[in-house]
Amino acid sequence: MKGILLAGGSGTRLHPLTLAISKQLLPVYNKPMCYYPLSLLFLAGIKEICIITTPHDLPLFQRLLKDGSQFGAHFTYRTQEEPRGIAEALLIAEDFIGQESVALVLGDNIIYGNHLQPLLLGAKERHGATIFAYRVKNPSRYGVVEIDSRGEPLRIVEKPKEFISPLAVTGLYFYDEKAVEMAKTLKPSMRGELEISDLNQLYLDEKELTVEQLGRGITWLDMGTHESLLQANQYIQVVEERQGLFIGSLEEVAYRQGWISHKDLEAMASKMEGSGYGATLKELV
Ligand code: DAU
Repeated sequence: MKGILLAGGSGTRLHPLTLAISKQLLPVYNKPMCYYPLSLLFLAGIKEICIITTPHDLPLFQRLLKDGSQFGAHFTYRTQEEPRGIAEALLIAEDFIGQESVALVLGDNIIYGNHLQPLLLGAKERHGATIFAYRVKNPSRYGVVEIDSRGEPLRIVEKPKEFISPLAVTGLYFYDEKAVEMAKTLKPSMRGELEISDLNQLYLDEKELTVEQLGRGITWLDMGTHESLLQANQYIQVVEERQGLFIGSLEEVAYRQGWISHKDLEAMASKMEGSGYGATLKELV
């Protein structure tokens, strides 16, 4: 399975923070924001990853993440000129995806908690599409999925004005090899975007959509506003500080996946010795 990290957009809701730098490169406690969603792809065992960002931010992402070989992974880069919708990522990455299945993650999403990896591996093996739903207090800010009493999805609505369900659709999507062809049939929405919710609805219409509900033991955060960015910073700091363990460390996941050796990890830790991040890596070693 291939992976896509979507890290474009204009970050207008975070201005002036994002006037000069991409939102997905902003710090979230001790690492850049994009580490968290990238680590989800790593946890799913996906190492062939296409990073999509704006032409302006591309050199910064390349400087930070390079070609991925330092993690035993492989990164390629594509650009999105304008934020024409999340589903456009599949069209931009068409040649990269080829005939394979693909996982798409938004560069501003954090998912963390117990027993997450089996859920990711299950989604990877499944036919059709898998999305992850999470109960929130303010569903109208998100794509929302309505389910029946057996947990089967009934419909997906992007930012519903009326309440239909408390279940928001998180920014992590697993698709089979039909995704690109299906994305090509989408029409721009009223706000002029190729909506990922429309693609998910197409899979639902074909009875090929699985909705995994993330329970209370899992935390989902996105970081679109100043408040939610600060909350994410605080959350990561509190949990990491308490446990002395990382959330979303690419070096750690790569090591645990067996993609890099103990010696590689040690070398990476030494390079960052001066920072708290490096010190925690050293402890891990
Ligand atoms: O976070 C989950 C939500 O993400 C879902 O529940 C929604 O269904 C989905 O539409 C999306 O909603 P947002 O309102 O959060 O979308 P936003 O426009 O903020 O974009 C989310 C991320 O994707 C953001 O980091 C920027 C990036 N993006 C977005 C668009 C539309 C791009 O890179 N390119 C784009 O064209």
